[in-house]
Amino acid sequence: MKKKILTIVGTRPQFIKAALISKLLRKSRTKTEVLVHTGQHYDDNLSAVFFKEMELPAPDYNLNVGSGSHAEQTGTMLIMIEKIILKEKPTLVLVYGDTNSTLAGALATAKFHIPLVHIEAGPRSFNRKMPEEINRIITDHLSCFLFAPTARSALNLYQEGIPADRVSNTGDILYDLFLYYSSFAKRSTVLEQLGIKEKKYLLLTIHRAENTDNSRRLRHIVEALNMLTSKYPVIAALHPRTRAALKVNALELGQNIIPIKPLGYLDMYKLEKSARLIITDSGGVQREALFHRVPCVTLRMETEWPETVQCGWSRLLPPNSDLGILLKKEVEHPWKGSLLKVNFFGDGTAARKMVSLLDQFVS
Ligand code: UD1
Ligand code: UDP
Repeated sequence: MKKKILTIVGTRPQFIKAALISKLLRKSRTKTEVLVHTGQHYDDNLSAVFFKEMELPAPDYNLNVGSGSHAEQTGTMLIMIEKIILKEKPTLVLVYGDTNSTLAGALATAKFHIPLVHIEAGPRSFNRKMPEEINRIITDHLSCFLFAPTARSALNLYQEGIPADRVSNTGDILYDLFLYYSSFAKRSTVLEQLGIKEKKYLLLTIHRAENTDNSRRLRHIVEALNMLTSKYPVIAALHPRTRAALKVNALELGQNIIPIKPLGYLDMYKLEKSARLIITDSGGVQREALFHRVPCVTLRMETEWPETVQCGWSRLLPPNSDLGILLKKEVEHPWKGSLLKVNFFGDGTAARKMVSLLDQFVS
C-alpha cells in the first residue's frame, strides 16, 4: 500500500513552494499526497492563481479558516487539522516555512507522535517579536526531519541543540522554482500591460507585520518612497494587509508609485527579473532578487537570510527617519553584488533531494 503524506499549506509562499514537491510526490509509486489548504490566504490573487498557473492539485481539504488574531487563526486550524489527521492516519506530515498554518500543522501532528517534516527549517532573524520567528522555532523543535535551505540555517539548528542526524541541508526550494519557471515566465506580458520598460522601474512589496502594523515605520516607508524621483516609477504589488494599513493611517502614495494588486508567480517573476531595483520586506522576494542578480533594498532591522546581504546583492535599510535619504542614494546608484562562486541556496535540486529523503523516511 502507498504511504500517505499529509501536506499542510495556507499562504501564498507555501502554495508556490508546494507546487514542485507536490508534482514529484504525485509521480511516486510508493507515496500518495493528501493536500490540506487551511484557508489562511483566500483571495484569488493570494491563493487560486497559484493553484491554476503552477498546476497544484485541488486541495483534498479546504479549512476556510480565513483571517483573525493569531490565537483565533492558529486555534481553529489546530482543531480542524487534528480531525483530518485522525481520519487520514498519514505516515508523515509535511509543513512549509513559518506561518500560522505551519505552526498549527506542527502542533497537531506532534501530539499524535506522527513524524513531522519541516521544509525551510532553520532560518532565524533572532527577533522574537516577529510572529514568524516564534512559528519557525516551535516547528523546528517539533520536527523529526528538518530540510534546511542553507548551511547557515542548518548551523542555527545545530546551535539550538537539534541533533545533526535530523537535519539535511537540501538547498532552497525557491531556487529550484526560479530555475524551473524561467522559460514559462518569458511569456508574461506584465511589462506591456503596465506600460513600463526593462530596468526603468522599481518593484516594491511590503507585507510584514512589523512594517504594516507599526504606523511610524509605515509612515517612514511611504515618505521615503514618495521622495523618489518619478524617473523610475515604483510598481507596488500591494498585499491586502498593506492596502488596509495605508488607508487606516491615511497615508497617500505619491504620483511616482503605481499600486497594483498582488500578482501571480509568473508575472512577479518577470517584474523581479526586469526591475532596476527591488524594495521589499518579503523573505522570498529578498532571495529571488539575488537569484535574478537584481539589487535589493530590504526594509527590515535584520534578516533571516543574511546570505543575501553577505554576497552584496541585498542591503538592509531599517524603516526609520533616515530611510528617505538612504533609499534615494541606492536608487540613483544601483550596485552589483559579488559574482558568487558559492551558491548559498543550493544547486536547484532541493525538491528532488527532499522527495528522495521522504522516500527513505516512509520506508
Ligand atoms: C502571512 C504570514 C507571513 C507570510 C505571509 C505570506 C503569519 C503570522 N504570517 O502574513 O509569515 O510572510 O503570510 O504572504 O502566518 N488578507 C486578505 N485576504 C487574504 C488573506 C489576508 O485580505 O486572502 C488580509 C486580512 O485583512 C488579514 C491580513 O491580510 O487580516 C493579514 O493576513 P494573515 O494571513 O494574517 O498574514 P499575512 O500578512 O498574509
Ligand atoms: N509573490 C507573488 N506575487 C506577489 C508577491 C510575491 O507571486 O505579488 C511571490 C514571490 O515571488 C515569492 C513569494 O510570493 O515567491 C513570497 O511570498 P511573500 O512575500 O508573500 O511571503 P514571504 O516570503 O515573506 O514569507
